[in-house]
Amino acid sequence: MDINQLKTRFAEEFGGHQDVRLFFAPGRVNLIGEHTDYNGGYVFPAALTYGTWALVTPRQDGKLRFVSTHFNVKAECSLDQLVYVKEEDWANYPKGVISKLLTYPSISSSLRGADILYYGNIPNGAGLSSSASIELVTALAISRLVNSDIPMIELVQLSQQAENQFVGVNCGIMDQFAVGMGKKDHAMLLKCDTLQYDYVPFQANGYKLVITNTNKRRGLADSKYNERRSECEQGLLQIQKVLPYILSLGDLRYAEWEQVRGVIQSDVIRNRVEHVVSENERVLLATRSLKENDLISFGQYMLQSHESLRDLYEVTGLELDTLFEEAAKVPGCVGTRMTGAGFGGCNVSLVREEAVEEFKKRVAENYTLRTGFIPDFYVCEVGDGAKEITGL
Ligand code: GLA
Repeated sequence: MDINQLKTRFAEEFGGHQDVRLFFAPGRVNLIGEHTDYNGGYVFPAALTYGTWALVTPRQDGKLRFVSTHFNVKAECSLDQLVYVKEEDWANYPKGVISKLLTYPSISSSLRGADILYYGNIPNGAGLSSSASIELVTALAISRLVNSDIPMIELVQLSQQAENQFVGVNCGIMDQFAVGMGKKDHAMLLKCDTLQYDYVPFQANGYKLVITNTNKRRGLADSKYNERRSECEQGLLQIQKVLPYILSLGDLRYAEWEQVRGVIQSDVIRNRVEHVVSENERVLLATRSLKENDLISFGQYMLQSHESLRDLYEVTGLELDTLFEEAAKVPGCVGTRMTGAGFGGCNVSLVREEAVEEFKKRVAENYTLRTGFIPDFYVCEVGDGAKEITGL
């Protein structure tokens, strides 16, 4: 859908307006560092050029109206009535974000309502952060509509809070951060407890990032995600008995962990912690490889990451493991792993440019043969974080 079609649709839904503004927020792919964010560890995501666009105009009557070109459900409410309504489905994300924005006096004193039309091209429910994308595009659009200059990092944090508290999904900060703070041709090394970050050029010359969708839907809210979080919390408590200064698993170095792993009686919990601590180290090693332009080593860390998520953290499953195995077999694929929460969703692979067509063909054939699902492929570029698109 191009901007003119979007404007036409906007006029059909909300009437013609002169003063529409267009905002964009991407989806994200995590290159390495999975299930480390809520443990205060490192992640290494990048923003995609796929994303969500929001066409917005202010209103003066205290009403908010939300329409999407993708979903049939439309929502409408007044500014003082921002409550979660199950039937309103996707619209709870923008509602949650706006309710958080209204805690800022600069917003509550000047926001008088808005009409928003959303259009997006991130495959929904695939683990590429379509929710964080809707959240950040809304946060940016509404704050800029009232000329507020709340910094992006705060929009990131309030979007995560909206998802945790309003929508009720207990996610970490990675998705909102990547979507808000992304930078073209760069990945982001983020320490999730301090929010210290570093942009690392992602110029994989001669390689392509290929995302493969299992097309098995991933139910994050009612999945084993919360169970994993609480297993990590239990592990941390036990470690703190011998290392009281460790505040999060993300602060535990592998060498220290080797000394104390015996304090954890349960094999399951020990495995979960083993994953988090080793994954955290891998993120740093992989980042260093990328800085040295050593994509072969980077790819090796991706493979190890998947194996750890499969064997120790147990969040992969038949579809993701099949994609992993089939992708790894294709010559020219130097690294491959699941990305996001797991339990379905997507795989990300680093593939030599000239091998991409063969990769798609062989992975699709074998994956379908083994699972019955037909995969989708997105050969992607690393794009910018949330921004306004001017010059309509
Ligand atoms: C989901 C969550 C993130 C993160 C990943 C796993 O994408 O939203 O916060 O925990 O899973 O790395």
